[in-house]
Order: sequence, then C-alpha cells, then structure tokens
Amino acid sequence: MKNTARLIAILSLSASVASCCQAPKSEGPVYLDDSQPIEARVEDALSRMTLEEKVKVIHAQSKFSSAGVPRLGIPELWTTDGPHGIRPEVLWDEWDQAGWTNDSCVAFPALTCLAATWNEDMSALYGKSIGEEARFREKDILLGPGVNIYRTPLNGRNFEYMGEDPYLASKMVVPYVQEVQKNGVAVCVKHYALNNQESKRHEYDAVVDDRTLYEIYLPAFKAAVQEGGAWSIMGAYNFYKGQHACHNEYLLNDILKGEWGFDGVVISDWGGTHETDQAITNGLDLEFGTWTDGLTMGATNGYDAYYLADPYLEKLRNGTASEDVLNDKVRRVLRLMFRTAMNNDKPAGSMCSPEHYDAARKIAGEGIVLLKNDNDVLPIDLSSAGKIAVIGENAIKMMTVGGGSSSLKVQHECTPLEGLIAAAGDRIVYERGYVGDVSGSYNGVVTGQDLSESRSEEQLIADAVALAKTADAVIFVGGLNKASHQDCEDSDRYHLELPYAQDKVIEALAEANPNLAVVIISGNAVAMPWIDNVNAVVEGWYIGSQMGHALADVLFGKVNPSGKLPFTFPAKLEDNGAHALNAYDPADLSVEYKEGIYVGYRWAEKQNIKPLFAFGHGLSYTDFTYGDAECAKASVKAGSNVIVSVDVTNSGKVAGKEVVQLYIGDDESSVDRPVKELKGFRKISLEPGETKTVTFTIEPDMLKYFDAAKHEWVLENGKFTAYVGSASDDIRTTVQFEVR
Ligand code: GLC
Repeated sequence: MKNTARLIAILSLSASVASCCQAPKSEGPVYLDDSQPIEARVEDALSRMTLEEKVKVIHAQSKFSSAGVPRLGIPELWTTDGPHGIRPEVLWDEWDQAGWTNDSCVAFPALTCLAATWNEDMSALYGKSIGEEARFREKDILLGPGVNIYRTPLNGRNFEYMGEDPYLASKMVVPYVQEVQKNGVAVCVKHYALNNQESKRHEYDAVVDDRTLYEIYLPAFKAAVQEGGAWSIMGAYNFYKGQHACHNEYLLNDILKGEWGFDGVVISDWGGTHETDQAITNGLDLEFGTWTDGLTMGATNGYDAYYLADPYLEKLRNGTASEDVLNDKVRRVLRLMFRTAMNNDKPAGSMCSPEHYDAARKIAGEGIVLLKNDNDVLPIDLSSAGKIAVIGENAIKMMTVGGGSSSLKVQHECTPLEGLIAAAGDRIVYERGYVGDVSGSYNGVVTGQDLSESRSEEQLIADAVALAKTADAVIFVGGLNKASHQDCEDSDRYHLELPYAQDKVIEALAEANPNLAVVIISGNAVAMPWIDNVNAVVEGWYIGSQMGHALADVLFGKVNPSGKLPFTFPAKLEDNGAHALNAYDPADLSVEYKEGIYVGYRWAEKQNIKPLFAFGHGLSYTDFTYGDAECAKASVKAGSNVIVSVDVTNSGKVAGKEVVQLYIGDDESSVDRPVKELKGFRKISLEPGETKTVTFTIEPDMLKYFDAAKHEWVLENGKFTAYVGSASDDIRTTVQFEVR
C-alpha cells in the first residue's frame, strides 16, 4: 500500500512539476501570438481566411490604405508618401487635403542631396529620422526611397533619386532601408524599373539590352532588396518588353522574386495596373490607385472594380485562376503586416523633434557641393564682411512644396534668406532679381507666401545690380523650383538652361561685383553660360526644413563643404549620351537606351567630353593631398581580393572631410568597358596637417561585367588599373594590378 501511495505521490508531483515548467499554452491563435515565428503566423492567418477576404487584402480600399481582415482582427495597411518626409493626410478617396492639424512634418533634404554626402552614416541617420516620423504617424509603408538612375538631366524626378552611378546609389540606399524598417515601417523602393523620364511615363516602353539593365539600372534595387532587406517595392508606370512594369514577368517574377529571392510585396504605382490577367500572373501583389474614383463606380464601391478585386474573384470562383497564385500574394501581404502593422515590438516613433531638425541640417551640410571657389570668395568672413546682398527668388520661396507626390506640409521651413539673416543679421539686404513661380499652392498645400511682383524684368535686374554694387559680397540664390517642368513629377524639363531669365541676372551681377557666389537650388544639372565670369558656385539642392541654416553654415564657413556630385553637369545637353544619340523621349514611345552602359561620366570619358562639372566633383575650404596608391599584391589569383591603400593628408588650414573615391578600369577586357567605374568611396575627416590611410578591398565581383549571352557576371583575368582621387576627373594616383 505504502509503495503504491508513494508511487502515486511521485507521479502526481512530477505531473504538477511538468505542468508548471511547460511554456503556458497561449490562449489565442498562432497568428496573434508574437512569440511565434512570422512564417507560422502567416500560414495560420492564411488558413483562416476566406476567398473573399484573401482578395480584399491585395488591393486598395482608399487612396492610401488597403484592407485587413476585420473578422480576424488583422488590421489595415496604411501607406504614405514620400522619400523626403511624411505627406499630409488626404481625404479617404481624394488627392485633396484632409485638413488635419497634426500632420505637419520635418522635410529632410531631397535624396540627391543625401547621395551627394557620399556618407552611408548620413543615409542611416536619414532613414532613422524619416522612419520615426512615419512610425509616429502610424504609417506602415513609406513610399520611398527612389533609386532610378539619372539618365537625362531633364528627368523631372531626378531630385527624388540618388544620381547616375549604380555603385553610389547601391551603397547609399541600404542604410536608409535598414533604418526605416527598424521602426516597423516598410520602405517601398521605387520606381522599379527604368522610370528614367517623366515624359509619357505611363506609355513609353524602355528598350534596354540586358547588360545595361544589369550593370546600370538594377543594382540599386538589388542592393535595397538583398542588402537592405526591403519589405516592399513599387512597380514603375512604363513598359518594359511590352509589359507594364507593375505586372511584368521579367522584372517581377524572373528577376526580383526569382533571381533576388524577394519575399516582400510588389505594390503598383498609383494607376500603374492596367489589366487583371497580367496582374495575376506577372508578380503584382498589392494594387493601388487604379483610376476608379473609389465610391461611385459600380454598385458598391470603386475599389471592388480594381483589377485584383471582383474581376479576380470571378476568375477564382469559376476556376480560371488558381488559388495557389492568390495565396502567394496573400502570404506576402500577411508577411508585410506581421513586419509592420501587427509587429507589437515597434518603437514609438517621433515627429518634428529637435533631433529630426538637427538631422536634416547635418545631412544637408554634408551634401551641399562647392562647385567653384576662385579667389576664395567663399566662405564669407562674417567677422569682417559689411553689407551682404542676397538676390533671387529662391532665397525666399518655400521649396518643401511642389514637385508632385513628394510635396510636403512642413511644421517649419527656414528659407535661404531667413537662414542668412539668422547668421549675419542686418548686414543682409535682399533684392528679388527675377520672378519665377508665384502660385503658392501645391497639392492643396497653401504656402501663404505672397510672391506677387509688379516690377518689370529689367527693373528687377536694375534694382539687384544697384544693390550688388554697394555690397561687400553678393549671394545669388536661384536654380529650379519644383514647379511644373522645373524638377517636377509627371513633367520633364524642356532644356538644360535656367528658367526665368536668371542667366541675365547672374551676368549682370558678375559685372557689378566680383565677390559673387551663385547658389543653384535644384535636383538636376543646369547650364551655366556665365561660369567663366562667376568666381564661386554652390549646388544647394532641395534641402527641406533646414535649407536656410544649412546654406548659411556653408556660405559663412561654419561647415566646411564636403559634398560631391552624384551626377555629371554636362556643359550642354548634347554632351549627355541619351541626348547625343537622340535616344530620349522619342515621339514613338519606344525609348531605346542607345547609350547602353555609357551613362553619365561613363559616356563623357568614353567620348572624351569635358563636363562642366564631373561626377564626384566637390571642393572644400581646405586642401587634400594624396600619397601614392599601393597594392598589397600586384598580382592576385582570380577569386581573391585586391587591397589598395593610399595616404590622404589635410594640407590646408581648416578641418575638413574628403570623399576618397576608387574607380577601376579593366585594361585587357575582351568586351567594351568604360574607362573606369566607381567601385569604392570613403568619407574621412581630417584636421589640418592630419594624415589618414584609406584602404579599399576590391572583391572579385567588383571587377566583373555582365555577360548577357551567358546571363551571368564574368571576371576576365588580366590587368586592371585602380584610380584613386577626389573626383572622377581629379584622379590623384593610380596603381595597376593583375588578376591571374
Ligand atoms: C505617384 C508617384 C509615386 C507615389 C504615388 C502615390 O504617381 O509615381 O511615386 O508614391 O503616386 O502618390
């Protein structure tokens, strides 16, 4: 008896011990259990959804949101523009402003400015900051960044992108993606792919050979997906190989999801979806912005008329569409939900914080490019300067508005004039100089600025010249302004020249005062016919909320400029490959990229064309000298790395940052290759007299070209040259090495 009793006691004890040590069985279903792996949650949620619910979650329900599954407690997904800041709220189904009073944001610098920093730390800071703003506004998907390659200086949206070089764009996009997504907010890298002009953007067919596609136009997207881990991608409007990019078997099924293993969601551009069959089979997962008006088309509402809505449901019900294909789309959308809307570990986010304003100013300060500085006109020494004339409409015009979908409603914008006055006080005297865009309203955001002007063009110039003659220094602030055809979505520029007769103003000012600094605010290269008569020129970009302070920091020397051009400034339009070959925006909608891989500096160097300012160009208030580049081993076995190092010294009088650039040229290639291609860069800070050794590791992949016939990257043995320097046209040292 006793033993039995003891046995029962032991068994009951072990049973109770066992039960208290087991992980408590969670009550709710797996898909709601945070402790479960995402894939298990995806499968569990999918298994519970009806056919109708599956179709509901793969298309929009409003202008910027798509449905969840209310019955299962699966929330909606909310998207927001744009790449430079969080767009103000619009009405449920209109582009019009919703008139909220809590949705003003910080506008960060345009992505051309970020690219011009050549500093991945700035990209990380940018992604963190804008990700926090998106998170605070409870958005799940940020519709950016854009990484389309700068093929023509006329493209209206180049200001939203990262320049002409695939290596620079590939490096600069990754930290932005990673840091945004740490907030539990998905990026939506756009516009995939070949959206390199705005003219006829919904109709043109990009005709590109495979080598050009893989070497130039895909790398930044590939890096965003494979290194950045992007959770969504936005399809472009244009055609490629006869299919719209938003439902394109080559770009989406074969390359993005096939070769790159993308596990996220392909989202259409707004209105980029044009039919049901291709939308089903060619890789589109989430349809937005199709041209219904949301509530009046059809018996219920316009969103059921979407191509991936009732038309798709109909096919699923009558068996002409497979539920397996639907399930793949739904899995991807659910995965995105568990990464964002249903991710309960997300940080809190923040909006309009001092940290965000500081980040905007810091990024801008590292992105502003000093293009020319003869006679040390810059920096203006405030300890001795008297009157400073500031001329130009771009000194006073708000620039955080305009440009299309990236337009913002900011909490605050410091214009150039305000920033210059904040730094230099009443020494600053302003004259308009010219009249550009006086509309004052953009996407329904009203700036409140009254830019009306009664004086004639001649009078404006006369008044500006009169002031310039009496000043110690003159700062002209002009350029483009994101008005239609002046760096704006859906409208390319018509020419390279500055608009609004600015060239006349600049010539007159140069005549009046040699201490003239011209600041160009733009997202594109512009012609500078007056360049020989102007001593100092700065590319100021669209800098956002901190525009004025960041410009003042550089112009008055508080910040030593360290930006480098992310794209070439051609002296004239015909110096650009697409235009030289008459391959931009032809009437017949078939845009053949005849220049192939020879985009930007690749073209200029192949054709021996001297640009106005070269890719990678940017001056400093100090000087940098380079030692001789050295190769650890002059000859390496194929497959091993090549190590190149160089000493860089600050030989000037003030601290500064230098972007040491590494280009590689294949000296014995069996195929045509560019003279050299960017394969490395490092931004270093140097005190006066300080020297640092910069070391680059050249991996085999960086030496390869894409062999379209074999459809693979190929490394040919032979001799290569490493070019190291301060710009693509300012190579300071070279070293040759051989791959056996
Ligand atoms: C626009 C743009 C895209 C934007 C979307 C939503 O047409 O092409 O970049 O994110 O529609 O505004």
